[in-house]
Amino acid sequence: MVDQHEEQSRNRLKLSAGFEIGHAAIDKEHEAIIVELNKCIDAQEAGNSIASLKQFYVFKDLLITHFSSEEEVMKAMGYHLLEELSTQHVKAAENIFEIIEKYKLNDEVNDVLNTDLMTDLIELFLRHLAADDTSFKGYLQELKYQE
Ligand SMILES: [Fe+2]
Ligand SMILES: [Fe+2]
Repeated sequence: MVDQHEEQSRNRLKLSAGFEIGHAAIDKEHEAIIVELNKCIDAQEAGNSIASLKQFYVFKDLLITHFSSEEEVMKAMGYHLLEELSTQHVKAAENIFEIIEKYKLNDEVNDVLNTDLMTDLIELFLRHLAADDTSFKGYLQELKYQE
């Protein structure tokens, strides 16, 4: 489960045990993505649009790179739902570009980096974990995969 740090802010994410996939490299990448997403939210809350926009692109690039590396791991492990999962990744990537359009992130930096955008990013990432990666977790458990 991805918990929210109530004590810090209701919008910060933390990877907790329930959402750990059980594959060290994948979990490490999820962790790194969360760090960058939280930095984006930090900058947005601090009113620093330029830093937040910069962080948004770091988050986006990391997430898209992650999709490829995750697919490589899945392929190497003979995951039977790889094709389905790749389709989910393509959809998630398309959603990111829809977000860029929706909030006009390619245009000049203004007050577009708002809390709605942060919520959209959090939802997108949670969907990625909950909708596709958890099924791979089940597969690893079936294999009794250990590192
Ligand atoms: Fe995934
Ligand atoms: Fe993932």
